[in-house]
Parts: sequence; structure tokens; C-alpha cells
Amino acid sequence: MSELRSGTADARAEGMRIALVPTLGALHDGHFALVRRAREVADLVVVSIFVNPLQFGPTEDLDRYPRTLEADVAQLEQLGVDWVFAPSVAEMYPSGTIQTRVTAGEVGSLYEGRTRTGHFDGVLTVVSKLLNIAQPDVAVFGQKDAQQVFLVKRMVADLNLPVTVEVVQTVREQDGLALSSRNRFLDAKEKRAALGLSIALEAAESSADRGIDAVLAAAQSVLMGESMVQLDYLKVVNPETFLPVDDGYQGKAVVLVAARVGTTRLIDNETIFLRGVGS
Ligand code: PAF
Repeated sequence: MSELRSGTADARAEGMRIALVPTLGALHDGHFALVRRAREVADLVVVSIFVNPLQFGPTEDLDRYPRTLEADVAQLEQLGVDWVFAPSVAEMYPSGTIQTRVTAGEVGSLYEGRTRTGHFDGVLTVVSKLLNIAQPDVAVFGQKDAQQVFLVKRMVADLNLPVTVEVVQTVREQDGLALSSRNRFLDAKEKRAALGLSIALEAAESSADRGIDAVLAAAQSVLMGESMVQLDYLKVVNPETFLPVDDGYQGKAVVLVAARVGTTRLIDNETIFLRGVGS
């Protein structure tokens, strides 16, 4: 930990720009896209791998979350990552827990936060710790976790953290399924059903010029046609506030979807441009 901090401090003293890519490990092409972006915007790339207990609820998949450290490190080496920071839980939370936390506020308790109470407080707390440890100039996140990106950006602004947040577009399989570490839990049938999420988002996007009701109806009809998909939420939010858009809203919006397929919970999102009906 102190080694990383002094390493990045030395690099900065030599005029290098430092990027941090925070991850939970179980890396896939989506993470590698973040690493490649980090390489483009910085001279020294740090990837953290830490399955953060603080962001998992008591009934969530903390124990089941895939841990593939050796393979992850080997792939990161191939990508030319300069530093892999993979602390233990005891290093990150020496007293077993943490008394001081960052709170994600109202937006943190909506959508993902509604199903996963305290999730975003856990995310923001660990991200702020990682930023303090690595002291990067840039931190790179994936748009797949759109709500997380919104909340991290807001934390950076609210707490005047000296870091730039860089966002990389969601990486998808050829058929459209958004890459996720949790996809490995899907069997072949579930994987086909999970495609319903990206197809629903495409349907939403195609209906954007007919207004919000049409967007929701188009996405819903796809999702209702997939009996293995148990919808958690489908929302259209304003990217500036991350609150649901009102009827008649026009402009950029983000469609969020979360669903359970079998025992696996998946999320996805798409940015659309809403036009009011008749406009
Ligand atoms: O998106 C993730 O992988 C995690 O939420 C993060 C940002 C690494 C914090 O643990």
C-alpha cells in the first residue's frame, strides 16, 4: 500500500501521468478496454483487484464472486500494466470494518441501490480509499455500470478529489450481450435469455423518437417475451441528475435495465435521444 503510494509519487515527480483502473477482478475484455484507455491517457497504469466486501449485502454473492487472481495478473502483464494492486481484506479494512464511509445520497438508494442496500456507499468508500492510496491523475470506469459512473463523478466533484474520471463504452459480445464477470454463471439457455436485456435496449433506442411511453413499452414487450428473465427495473433517467425523466422530456436520456436470469443478476444500459411526441 505505502509502496504503491510512494511508487506513484516518484512517477509523478518524474512528470508521469498516472491512471488507476479499479476492478473486482475476474477480468474480461470489458476490463481490458479500460486498461487500454488508461494506457492511452497515462504513462503509468495501476490496476486494482479487490473484491470489496463493503459493497456486497448479506444475501449477495460475495462468496460466489469469481476470484481468478493468477489469470488476471498474467493477462494484465501481457497488456503492459505497470502495477497490479491486489490488497487483502485485512489490509483494506484492518479493524475488520470501517467506521467512516462515503454516502451516495438519494441517487445511491435508487435502481441498483434499491435492490442492493448500501451497495453504493460501499463502492464510493472503497473507490475513495483506492484513489487516496494510488493518487492517480485519471481513474477509468466502464459505462456498463452507469449509476456507479454517475455517483463516482459526483463524489469527485462534491469532495473536490484531484482526479479526472474517464469513462469507456460498454464492451459487448457479438450478439449484443454486455460483458460481465457474472456472465460465466449463465448456462447456454440463460445466456440466450440474457440477450433479452440488450435487445430490449435496442428496441428502446429505436422508439426514442416516439417519446418515453413508447420507449418503455418497446423494451417491456421484449423483456416480457423472455420467460427466464425476471425484470427488476426498467427506467429512463436524465444523465445530468440520474433521476427518472418526466413525461414530455426531450434530450439525452439513459435507459437502465436490471434483471435476474436464473440465479444471476445482470444490468445493462443505453444512452438514447428522446424526442417528445409530435415534436
Ligand atoms: O465496478 C467495479 O468493479 C467495482 O464496483 C469497483 C469500482 C472496482 C469498486 O469496488
